[in-house]
Amino acid sequence: MLKERLEPKVISMKSEVIHWRRYLHENPELSFQEEKTSQFVCDQLLSFGNLEVTRPTKYSVMARLIGTKPGKTLAIRADMDALPIQEENEFEFVSKTPGVMHACGHDGHTAMLLGAAKILSSMKDQLQGEVRFLFQHAEEYFPGGAKEMVEAGVMEGVDMVIAAHLMSDLEVGKVGITYGPMMAAPDGFFLTIKGRGGHGSAPHQTIDSIAVGAQVVTNLQHIVSRNTNPLDPLVLSIGKFVAGEAANVIADSVEMNGTVRSFDVKFRETIPALMERVIKGITEAHGATYDFKYLTGYLPVINHDEVTKLVEETVREVYGEETISYEKPKMGAEDFSAFMQDTPGCYFFIGAGNEEKGIVYPHHHPRFTIDEDALEMGVRIFVHAVFKILT
Ligand code: NI
Repeated sequence: MLKERLEPKVISMKSEVIHWRRYLHENPELSFQEEKTSQFVCDQLLSFGNLEVTRPTKYSVMARLIGTKPGKTLAIRADMDALPIQEENEFEFVSKTPGVMHACGHDGHTAMLLGAAKILSSMKDQLQGEVRFLFQHAEEYFPGGAKEMVEAGVMEGVDMVIAAHLMSDLEVGKVGITYGPMMAAPDGFFLTIKGRGGHGSAPHQTIDSIAVGAQVVTNLQHIVSRNTNPLDPLVLSIGKFVAGEAANVIADSVEMNGTVRSFDVKFRETIPALMERVIKGITEAHGATYDFKYLTGYLPVINHDEVTKLVEETVREVYGEETISYEKPKMGAEDFSAFMQDTPGCYFFIGAGNEEKGIVYPHHHPRFTIDEDALEMGVRIFVHAVFKILT
């Protein structure tokens, strides 16, 4: 019954959602700079009618759709920002801004949520409770826009929150569901090892910061393999190691920059001290000194069973069991966790990859793109989830 009412609306929305996605793809904006994007979203929402549209922060947009009957409040979030990447795709709607690209699919997230908002705004009299559409700025860049929106009060009175990410490594037609821990907490660190430079032919007169730094790199991995419970996932990666100028000069200092990923909040708190113990021990043993800064990032995304079950059941009812792909947690991160801090929620994946069409590049790649058939799925799942949850 509901399916029959919704289906023509979803199908007729398809081309408009693709159109919006392509417009956004052509006009990407970096995190905390989503001026035109947020204005575009705001203008579209205002044109739908029945929505209370506000700007919780400078570049975010919130639209409230309040049903005619009282009930729960469900928030749905889409992120809107692009990345500092030079696009290498060749389709006709490539980025018009040099060095900036929607390389993570957030153009699609924004378009899908606009599509859902347009359909649902036309069904206000059939809704119980409230749907709150959250268009978030700055997901890609720490400290992220989610926290700012939460601080601005967007989650007040919200009973549940959901969001989806298009995924190029999940085949189009599949929906990825994960119970419990889903996306890791991303911390960062800066480490400088200070030795004493000198002539490459006379190491005994120096403290070789590269030799010491290399041991620190190796030994930090022992935290992962020897000091922590293997059932507490941990990744410790050093992505930057900068030292030295010339072949015959021993480097005075080494600068390192890395990322630490984990899930468990208590376990996470123990990591900086474990790292510092290794760094201190090795540098002292060789007469070097160090400067260590540890930065705590987003909270992990931990899906709540109750909301995840509702999303899973929605997908099963709309598409059938074979569409669901139970995904393992990922060590990537998402500031969607900020919306879930005090509110049960579910974050899930919508497959957007397609080998036959050559849509195989990973997220944040200059040739990343999505299969646009995924957009219609996203709209369909959102509108059905609204009627499932708000009854
Ligand atoms: Ni993303």
